[in-house]
Amino acid sequence: MPDFSRKIGALAGSSTVAISDRARQLQQQGVNVVNLGGGDPDFDTPAHIADAGVKAIRSGQTHYVASQGIPALRQAVAEKLLRENGLSYDPAKEIIATASGKLALYIALESLLDPDDEVLYLEPAWVSYRPLITLVGGRPVAVPLSPSENFAVRAEQLEKKVTPRTKAILINSPNNPTGRVLTEQELQAIRDVAVKHDLWVVGDEIYEHLVYDEHRHVSIATLPDMRERTVVVNGMSKAYAMTGWRLGYLAAPAALTEQILKVQQHVVTCATSFGQVAAAAALQGSQDCVETMRQEYDRRRRRISEALNAIPGVRCPLPEGAFYLFPEIDYKGYDSWQLAEYLISEAHVAVTPGQAFGESARKNIRLTYATSMENLTEAVERIKRALAL
Ligand SMILES: Cc1ncc(COP(=O)(O)O)c(C=O)c1O
Repeated sequence: MPDFSRKIGALAGSSTVAISDRARQLQQQGVNVVNLGGGDPDFDTPAHIADAGVKAIRSGQTHYVASQGIPALRQAVAEKLLRENGLSYDPAKEIIATASGKLALYIALESLLDPDDEVLYLEPAWVSYRPLITLVGGRPVAVPLSPSENFAVRAEQLEKKVTPRTKAILINSPNNPTGRVLTEQELQAIRDVAVKHDLWVVGDEIYEHLVYDEHRHVSIATLPDMRERTVVVNGMSKAYAMTGWRLGYLAAPAALTEQILKVQQHVVTCATSFGQVAAAAALQGSQDCVETMRQEYDRRRRRISEALNAIPGVRCPLPEGAFYLFPEIDYKGYDSWQLAEYLISEAHVAVTPGQAFGESARKNIRLTYATSMENLTEAVERIKRALAL
């Protein structure tokens, strides 16, 4: 057999997908598994959004559409960015609707990086950042943040990793897996490094609507001199419970958008036509559904972090945003891989090991609370029993 690509051969598969596969396998064997491994809302897509999609299919909107996205969706995205983020983008030249937030990241990175260009990203980080950067030929450079400092970001930490090959900084706030929401001071620190070294910033804002208590999401593109060097990435999956629709979008300065659009044209042509109609309905309709889901996540977040903190050896900070808990667990000196393996085999609870998101999270596991309170309560009981053995 001829060789495969060395680049892909060296790429690890997604650990979150692997956990879900393992959970499914056990379930097929009749084991009752509580799966807290993924990041898929347990809510259905709100009816008015689903109806808009169905109506679009029925009315024959099932063909290719403009590669950049249907005008109605681009307009809705532009209005959303202005209304919610205070950002002004031209829907004709600066916005692309694409087939998921993930693809938005991919086509943006593809358009920014030459071979061996370095991208700084803050760790712990979502499992796909490293592979996405590698896939497009870049070099991922982790900037490790410390659990003992609540994953705070300071300019020196970034500065230490900047080299002449550094091309971009990839940030994610609210963060998967830590739940951290970057403060204005932290955003300012990232901004200062980006401006000083003339770097692009890719801001993954997919969890922006899921923030709690006094925390507020601020887009880094709103900081001085940042709009011209930022790609804002967002999507419909998390806020609107639309993971299966595969709809996302990005906003960037016109000259960069033109480049990104070429990648989009060759890779997917366009995002799903009727999905775009549904996405426009989501952005333009009442936002009550988003708030209802956010309040339920908030309730689960409080209840379950409290329950976890009551277990000896578990320290669970209250997440500031997104829908993940990221407790640190002291159990027989286990690292996070051993913990995750122990919890699925002993307690039949599927979680993601912290080290899947970065080595500094040696004792953390990630649990999603985008699942019912009943599942969460059961999972905590099982974890408690397993950690008492
Ligand atoms: C941090 C982060 N960014 C982007 C995505 C991509 O979401 P989607 O491709 O469903 O839009 C996810 C999904 O889990 C995520 O956690």
